[in-house]
Amino acid sequence: MSLGYPLHRPRRLRRTAGLRRAFAETDLRPSRLIAPLFVKEGIKEPVPIAAMPGQAQLDLVSAVKEARELASRGVGGLLVFGVPATKSPDGAAAWAPDGISQQALTAIKDEVGDDLVVMADLCLCSYTESGHCGVISEQAQGTIDNDPTIELYAEIAVAQARAGADIVAPSGMMDGQVHAIRGALDSAGFSDRVILSYAAKFASNFYGPFRDAAEGAPQFGDRRSYQMHTANLAEALREARLDVAEGADALMVKPAIGYLDVVRAIKDELGLPTAAYNVSGEYSMVKAAAGNGWLDERSTALEILNSIRRAGADLIITYHAGDAAEWLS
Ligand code: PBG
Repeated sequence: MSLGYPLHRPRRLRRTAGLRRAFAETDLRPSRLIAPLFVKEGIKEPVPIAAMPGQAQLDLVSAVKEARELASRGVGGLLVFGVPATKSPDGAAAWAPDGISQQALTAIKDEVGDDLVVMADLCLCSYTESGHCGVISEQAQGTIDNDPTIELYAEIAVAQARAGADIVAPSGMMDGQVHAIRGALDSAGFSDRVILSYAAKFASNFYGPFRDAAEGAPQFGDRRSYQMHTANLAEALREARLDVAEGADALMVKPAIGYLDVVRAIKDELGLPTAAYNVSGEYSMVKAAAGNGWLDERSTALEILNSIRRAGADLIITYHAGDAAEWLS
């Protein structure tokens, strides 16, 4: 009996939908998805974000409702961004006990308890008049002063933990921020709270739409003296190693789609739980193309999320979280 040619027919494993499902190498479950929420102080109803169709700045009551809805869809968690009514030079509302982020964290936590992991973005850019992620140096005009900034981050972390955050996610890319935050949390009795560090956050053009959502655009200059050059992979690994040494529990890469090599490298080298942030511009591109009838939103979004998972991300922060959870169920 002669063997037919070709002997190897990979297409056998793709013949039916059942086979394709059974042999899929990557699983994408709603529990892997984290939804960002923008909670704005002083509004009475949601305010749509023009550059991010389907997303809105939420008032407290709507935010709590949205959290309940996300939990019912099986989404893994949410990431709270507070948008204060007024800004100040040092961004003090970021750590005020009644700051909008703290109010939102407490209200959401009270509602959903343990049904969602509640994360807090930890930064100053929505709170400072400058729109920068840190305080402006008194010596060197126009530069961001690292060490005073991380002291403020430490205050914010404690306020967020006290308000109920399960996880704080520092996104300011200041040196030593994880160390400062870990120390402050531990001294305040929050040694049980997780630090998910934005270890490798690139100075990306894809944050454009977000700056309207969080109202934190820099008022002068840009963020390239603290966020990473988009060309760098070795530096991303260095940042990740430092964050692990400083006590990070989990690591994040941001943005996601253009940085899948970084996700894979960090996951493989550090071995920690790794998140990828599928950022605003990545979301808005899909929305814009779908709105024009150029791409199918659902299958395109799921393809993107699958590829981020395939690159090694355990968690994906995505504005498609709610919809994707629905599509996946
Ligand atoms: C601010 C922050 C940004 C994002 C998350 N936290 C913007 C920036 O650094 O300019 C971007 C998120 C997105 O684009 O979806 N620290």
